[in-house]
Amino acid sequence: MGTEIPEGTLQNIMEQESLKWVFVGGKGGVGKTTCSSILSILLSRVRSSVLIISTDPAHNLSDAFQQRFTKTPTLVNGFSNLYAMEVDPNVESEDVGSSDGMDSLFSELANAIPGIDEAMSFAEMLKLVQTMDYSVIVFDTAPTGHTLRLLQFPSTLEKGLTKMMSLKNKFGGVISQMSRLFGVEEDFGEDAILGRLEGMKDVIEQVNKQFKDPDLTTFVCVCIPEFLSLYETERLVQELAKFEIDTHNIIINQVLYDEDDVESKLLKARMRMQQKYLDQFYMLYDDFNITKLPLLPEEVTGVEALKAFSCHFLSPYQPSTGTVEALERRVSTLRQQLQNAEAELEKLRKGKQKV
Ligand SMILES: Nc1ncnc2c1ncn2[C@@H]1O[C@H](COP(=O)(O)OP(=O)(O)O)[C@@H](O)[C@H]1O
Ligand SMILES: [Mg+2]
Repeated sequence: MGTEIPEGTLQNIMEQESLKWVFVGGKGGVGKTTCSSILSILLSRVRSSVLIISTDPAHNLSDAFQQRFTKTPTLVNGFSNLYAMEVDPNVESEDVGSSDGMDSLFSELANAIPGIDEAMSFAEMLKLVQTMDYSVIVFDTAPTGHTLRLLQFPSTLEKGLTKMMSLKNKFGGVISQMSRLFGVEEDFGEDAILGRLEGMKDVIEQVNKQFKDPDLTTFVCVCIPEFLSLYETERLVQELAKFEIDTHNIIINQVLYDEDDVESKLLKARMRMQQKYLDQFYMLYDDFNITKLPLLPEEVTGVEALKAFSCHFLSPYQPSTGTVEALERRVSTLRQQLQNAEAELEKLRKGKQKV
């Protein structure tokens, strides 16, 4: 073997106390929900309160935690400071706020601007979440294209506002006539709509400023060692750079290791293929923290399984190969696990004292 690349972990996320928003993204099925759930569990040990939000329309937080979640934060069973919620980024703007005539007019207009609905409901949600005072918020995001659209919302809204203004100038009193038609009082017509959009713009600008601050926000890319996933990751990293959103962690999930008991030719062939892409990941992203996670024979569902898998987030996975070194590494992993368990126990004890 050539020069050893120091194995990365996600310890850096635990240590960065200033972090407020942690996005977890990548293609469907690579392990976003698994990884974001584990990150939220680990963060709950070092932070006062954590919220995990799924914005993926194909929600599976409920599967991972084996507990049903809704669009309001719900305490995760067995935790005192970890909450979860699932939001649908495609909700109609009528669902946000009250649903009177004003709102239907508003959503009619909003529908004329593609993407604005989604951007607004995301902004409303962020506004709400910000008032809730969680010390860190983890996002289990939708597959790549979707996520990027959400992060793009400030410019979407900016464009929407401009379009709105020009519509207003073009059609003059038509909008206020429409508002009368919808049974909205004169004062609540076009100016109210524009005012509301302007207000939303403020929230969005504020949130956007936070998203661009690497002290507050980071994006964790999850992928698997395959060509398409490498390609997607590169696209994601480039887009994030364009939006000036910090990203310095890549999780490569479902890695096959040459354990003592692996005999299968098929597995060995897959391993060689994976190695090719792993090498490329390390070459392309030498300034990233790369964390490799092993492919398990079984799914990672339920809090216990998530917790057990979480040790690979804090110390590199070591395949069992029977050598003294392997055993030593295994002992050190177990030590780390023991430390985690002790920290958790300590936290539970402290929590009990408070009650
Ligand atoms: N390293 C792994 N080993 C085995 N199963 C895994 C691993 N990572 C994820 N899984 C399983 O794969 C499925 C998809 O993972 P999930 O985290 O839901 O992906 P995503 O949210 O990206 O669609 C889940 O059933 C999960 O338990
Ligand atoms: Mg998912």
